[in-house]
Amino acid sequence: NPTYRIAPSILSADFSRLGEEVRNVAAAGADWIHFDVMDNHYVPNLTMGPVICEAIRPHVTIPIDVHLMVRPVDRIAPDFAKAGANSITFHPEASDHIDRTLSLIRDHGCETGLVFNPATTLDYMDHVMDKIDIVLIMSVNPGFGGQSFIPEALNKLRQARAKLDAYKERTGRHIKLEVDGGVKIDNIAEIAAAGADTFVAGSAIFGHPNYAQIIGEMRSRLAT
Ligand code: DX5
Ligand code: ZN
Repeated sequence: NPTYRIAPSILSADFSRLGEEVRNVAAAGADWIHFDVMDNHYVPNLTMGPVICEAIRPHVTIPIDVHLMVRPVDRIAPDFAKAGANSITFHPEASDHIDRTLSLIRDHGCETGLVFNPATTLDYMDHVMDKIDIVLIMSVNPGFGGQSFIPEALNKLRQARAKLDAYKERTGRHIKLEVDGGVKIDNIAEIAAAGADTFVAGSAIFGHPNYAQIIGEMRSRLAT
């Protein structure tokens, strides 16, 4: 049985009380804090920079998973490492030199990951597997919380799972398979069956009045 992680996306949190929100969701059993960085350039929305990451860092001990939806990547990635990020993922189309960006993130002490938009081919990972700790499959087009899960993402997850299993067979190294967008109580079991082990959920968790209850319910769906 795989180890599952639930990563609430604070994009749907109350930004006016972010410290309290991350403490509450961590106390409610979150495994990671998912931190969405948007630049109004690579995606049509604007969110949080390194200073916000640094500000929430003292409020939780669980890992902060930074999802960069920015272009260029290399200029800003090290600043998130310095601000306390534990993992930094980016979109391969947004980097001019993917292998170099992965090395840059590793050199700053963070786990690395590539993020695949709904129409982005998984081929981007093939020649850099040794430099990746996380593969993140987008199940919505990036830019906004609260969108519906794109069903084709299930096929994509199965294909990614096959690649990661073959890699593990060959090397013994486990790469996490994360999914982001439209994850809810009603589809999380099906998404896990397609191979995901790490689940980002924004509106489903922060839109619920009781974080412990919704996270607990997600875990129970994963257990069955
Ligand atoms: C979308 C972000 C997601 C978003 C998910 O670009 O990457 O992390 O917050 O929100 P929900 O879970 O509401 O789809
Ligand atoms: Zn995200």
